[in-house]
Amino acid sequence: MNTADLNSNFPVDFVRSQFPAIGNSETVFFDNPAGTQLPDQVFRAMQRTGADATANLGGAFARSIAAGEELLRAERRAAAFLGADDPEEIVFGPSMTELTFQMSRAIARTLSPGDEIVLTNQEHEGNFSPWLLAAKDFGLVIRRVEVDPESWRVEQSALEEQLSNKTKVVALNYASNLTGSINDVHALTKSAKSVGALVYIDAVQFAPHDIVDVKSIGCDFLVCSAYKFYGPHLGVLWGRKDVLNDLPADCVACTVQHPNAKFERGTPQYELHASLNGCLDYFEDLGQKLRPETTGIAAIHAALELAKYHEDALCHQLVNGLTDIPGVSIFGISDPSKMDFRVPTVSLISSSVPHKVLAEQLASAGINVWHGHNYAIRILEQFDHDRNNGVCRFGIGHYNTATDVERAIVAVAAAHDKSQAVA
Ligand SMILES: Cc1ncc(COP(=O)(O)O)c(C=O)c1O
Repeated sequence: MNTADLNSNFPVDFVRSQFPAIGNSETVFFDNPAGTQLPDQVFRAMQRTGADATANLGGAFARSIAAGEELLRAERRAAAFLGADDPEEIVFGPSMTELTFQMSRAIARTLSPGDEIVLTNQEHEGNFSPWLLAAKDFGLVIRRVEVDPESWRVEQSALEEQLSNKTKVVALNYASNLTGSINDVHALTKSAKSVGALVYIDAVQFAPHDIVDVKSIGCDFLVCSAYKFYGPHLGVLWGRKDVLNDLPADCVACTVQHPNAKFERGTPQYELHASLNGCLDYFEDLGQKLRPETTGIAAIHAALELAKYHEDALCHQLVNGLTDIPGVSIFGISDPSKMDFRVPTVSLISSSVPHKVLAEQLASAGINVWHGHNYAIRILEQFDHDRNNGVCRFGIGHYNTATDVERAIVAVAAAHDKSQAVA
């Protein structure tokens, strides 16, 4: 089957029918990089847990046992989702940012003044500020890698210029929440490992669009957020067990020192574990519908793979349509031959319409987008763009359609025609 066949075979109407917020809604959901809508399975899983499994862990009674089983299932499936096998390597937290604050501090406590942390200008602040503040408090040095203005990616040679035997951590973005660029995290990790650094990868914007495999990357940590891939507001961190074991954790005196549980303070969010399971059930069901011979993680991978073809085709359509509008440029990769190096998150820069105004005009046309810096301030600084105006960002998900894209292009063109008429 070629890409066009795969794309036309993608059951987008069925997918939309699984999301109560979407159904027959006229709204165009292009706000996905900031948070996706939830499929029915998530609500059902949350309801089931509320009815049958709300109790603290470790009790001898059925509800407590059920809560423990739901947690273990969520850990097992999150590990498999990220390419790992050990549930004790999964740490859940309220968000990626919260987990990164916690891990950056735990790691910083094992370092010595003068040790170096390398960050890139492609980071969301969730993978920048925590390291910056830890460096300030523990006397560490921050080194920064620029985004290549030609490729829109963090190049291996640029990273290597910042590495030395003082480098203890490299914190890397997998896919940008602003430009959509995908970094070659396999190659970048290899370089960081050649100087013995720990590698911490932010996969928040990659995980919704492709298969993550921590083992093949060779990193030490990888973090993502379930609410970006149709799940609950739950941060998910995978950490290599030996590394997690060795890290100090601030926890209460009687906490069992499991490599993951020592980082999960207080009572866990059982409803969210169940919701994560519901989200992965959704992907598994979709994968089985598309490739009936698959089960479990293979079915989830099938769903992601086929959704990617669908999203990539929409991304081509969107980039082509937007670049044809006078006064609009893409802040990121627009070369049709380089589209494999981006996720379908497309930001534009308008030369005539302030992005806040553009986002408001799109909202009144029923199209949800985000504008401004979207917490990716370092790359805007590097390219000398005003962070308040920032960009206008369109994020495609697997429930979007060619009609959604067409409506967005028409609305952006209309806003630019209007601005010409006023001028
Ligand atoms: C690339 C990236 N990293 C980190 C975050 C922060 O995630 P959270 O909201 O879970 O803290 C975001 C949120 O948009 C993001 O896009």
